[in-house]
Amino acid sequence: MKWICLISLLVVGVVIAADDDLPLAKACDQEACQPPDCRCSSTSIPGGLDPKDTPQFVMVTFDDAVNVLNTETYRNVLYNRRNQNGCPVGATFYVCHEYTNYQLVNELYNNGFEIALHSITHQTPLTYWAEATKEIMLKEFGEQRVMMSHFANIPIDEIQGIRMPFLQMPGNASFEVLAESGMTYDCSWPTITHIDPGLWPYTLDYASTQDCVIAPCPTASIPGKWVIPMISWIDEDGTPCSMVDSCFSSPPQNDATAWFEFIKQNFNRHYQGNRSPFGFFIHEWYLRTYPAVTSALIQFLDYINSIPDVFMVNSKDVIDWVKDPVPINEYKARGCRNQTPSACSPASVCGPLEAPHKEERFYMSSCNACPKVYPWLGDPLGKNEKKINS
Ligand SMILES: *[C@@H]1O[C@H](CO)[C@@H](O)[C@H](O)[C@H]1NC(C)=O
Ligand SMILES: [Zn+2]
Repeated sequence: MKWICLISLLVVGVVIAADDDLPLAKACDQEACQPPDCRCSSTSIPGGLDPKDTPQFVMVTFDDAVNVLNTETYRNVLYNRRNQNGCPVGATFYVCHEYTNYQLVNELYNNGFEIALHSITHQTPLTYWAEATKEIMLKEFGEQRVMMSHFANIPIDEIQGIRMPFLQMPGNASFEVLAESGMTYDCSWPTITHIDPGLWPYTLDYASTQDCVIAPCPTASIPGKWVIPMISWIDEDGTPCSMVDSCFSSPPQNDATAWFEFIKQNFNRHYQGNRSPFGFFIHEWYLRTYPAVTSALIQFLDYINSIPDVFMVNSKDVIDWVKDPVPINEYKARGCRNQTPSACSPASVCGPLEAPHKEERFYMSSCNACPKVYPWLGDPLGKNEKKINS
């Protein structure tokens, strides 16, 4: 009897382990891996296009909580801007939950910008993220998606992308969560070896050839889930940097002219190269702290918004193009993305709300009825229902 129990335990153990094991990704099979659902990691231009026929996409992104202070900058820098073809520009916000004002997230969404996820807790230490299991990732991002959709009143299907806090990936787990929750892409993975020519977005059906700068990187096959590589900039000493505000040898922060040239130099490497999407990845505090850098950015955006083959778009628009790559003229003929507005109603300021993770009481601006407690991991709608079994 004892033996039978032991044996069956072992069998169960093996079955569970096998179930958790994802298939290891194999070298990419160019024949089998074709758009729209598959693309090998590569610096070659989608659709075999010539650089001159390829839209130069620009992805401006901001990370972290959305609040009254940083929204001032977003209004000033981004609102009412159009690409040369007349379509409204895009930008992507990787929003984390704590201290976020959901009425302002709704405003960003209604101005045509993409809302993406950056976790509920954004906590330290980095090992929390490096070692995060699929279960933790499902809470941090799967639940955040529900939370974001509810409190900012954004259709849940419009939320398609994630970026890991501190760009610390957990290996496969974040991509497994994309698969389980029906999201499309991650934009957390820097490259310093595929800068020129730059690495285009690709899927994880097959093994990635991208350099792993911040381990662990995914090695499993996770079909149809996209990586938007963070192609590093090169600073004035030749050192790569993945976020603009992390470049060590950047020009003096009070020198708008030098900063404009710095941005343009990095842009030209893409524009005059294989036209891989150009990223301007930054935290708003940097712009607020250095007004000359803000002026340089505005000057740069004015400049690219006047070039016919440059398109400042939401990051998920880049994936849509890579899935179905067409030359510039055909791309322009598709017209502008149109988005149904989503009202903020009832607009409520909720609080003071008790939170499970801190003594502090929170005030939270919402586009929905107020939660009972501050929403958090395991309770994305702030219902404070104690689970009977836990
Ligand atoms: C990712 O999955 C592959 C294939 O199952 C596995 O070999 C690798 O160890 C996993 N990575 C991490 C960090 O768990
Ligand atoms: Zn962050």
